Amino acid sequence: MTDRFLRACYRQETDCTPVWFMRQAGRYLPEYRRLRERYGLMELCRHPELAAEITLMPVHRFAVDAAIIFADLMTPLEAMGVDFEVQEGVGPIIVHPIRSPDDVQKLPVPDDDAIAPATMQAIQIVKGELNGLPLIGFAGAPFTLASYLVEGGPSRDFAQTRAFMFRHPKAWHQLMAKLTETVVRYITAQVQAGADAVQIFDSWVGCLSPTDYCEFVLPHMCQLFERTAPLRVPRILFGTGTATLLPLMRQAGSEVIGLDWRVPLDEAWQALDFAVAVQGNLDPAVLLADWAVVERHTMNILRRTKGKAGHIFNLGHGILPQTDPSIVARLVDFVHEVTDRQRGWR
Ligand code: CP3
Repeated sequence: MTDRFLRACYRQETDCTPVWFMRQAGRYLPEYRRLRERYGLMELCRHPELAAEITLMPVHRFAVDAAIIFADLMTPLEAMGVDFEVQEGVGPIIVHPIRSPDDVQKLPVPDDDAIAPATMQAIQIVKGELNGLPLIGFAGAPFTLASYLVEGGPSRDFAQTRAFMFRHPKAWHQLMAKLTETVVRYITAQVQAGADAVQIFDSWVGCLSPTDYCEFVLPHMCQLFERTAPLRVPRILFGTGTATLLPLMRQAGSEVIGLDWRVPLDEAWQALDFAVAVQGNLDPAVLLADWAVVERHTMNILRRTKGKAGHIFNLGHGILPQTDPSIVARLVDFVHEVTDRQRGWR
């Protein structure tokens, strides 16, 4: 059944629970590491044939219910003239971080067709190879993109980002508006190129209080989801550390909310009034333990869904590079088998 994932996004009944993994195309795959010996990460993103090949790697290995296009969070920022490199084991490092309202002023909003043309070509190539399996496009959310631009790299507490927000609220909103516009254009281009769904990664938004999320982020997220609604594809909003933010994130208007592993799935779904589909939320570190542990944690999640329509099985964050691909293969089959039987009981 190839529409399992899309049906679950819209909370429709499926034969069994769909499964895919954040970062399913990446370093835990030996065939990916082999390519990385020859090319840098951003170089891979700039070659449509290579990006397409990597996107398909997990699809060839596992019975996953969706592919996610291979790109990076920083990919669309190249068109904004942002100079950066992605350092192995660290993440994106920005050459000239945004430190003043003046820096925000100077940041251009790129034209639609200037944003990541190689990614759009990769999407077209992948679509021809998927035999109807859905392809997920993605973008970083404005806050998470802003956090890299302001910090200049990864951060533990995002103090500089929060300080910028409080010290320069007007410039902050300008920055968020520019990033929102760029993300809307980038997402639109991906759907026009063939993406069947999109995920917005607000990976680091959990560093904000609900009050500050409301004031500094939510209006832009509402705008983002309002503007992409006419695309008529399901939109997944994911973040980590979002336990206190979930009801606000729901107000932004996505069809699906992605949960990290820190929240019990049923309690989080309840906090969302069961009004959206949920995706998640196995701790990626569990996959480094014995199969019996993986099975126990997976069953715990599946029991919490109570077989309700609208659950997409995933991890609570990206697959860790040390993960054994054979455990991943076994997990996909296990989720399909158990949930197929669960449905038989009803
Ligand atoms: O999910 C997928 O399989 C699609 C590909 C994908 C990549 N990055 C490729 C990549 C996706 C969806 C991303 C999103 C991304 N990139 C996020 C949001 C998701 C999340 O994890 O919260 C973020 C924060 C980034 C920025 C980034 N890029 C980081 C923090 C890192 C890790 C640095 C490291 O080495 O640990 C990267 C590098 C990166 N992006 C890799 C891959 C496969 C691995 C590094 C490599 O190949 O050198």
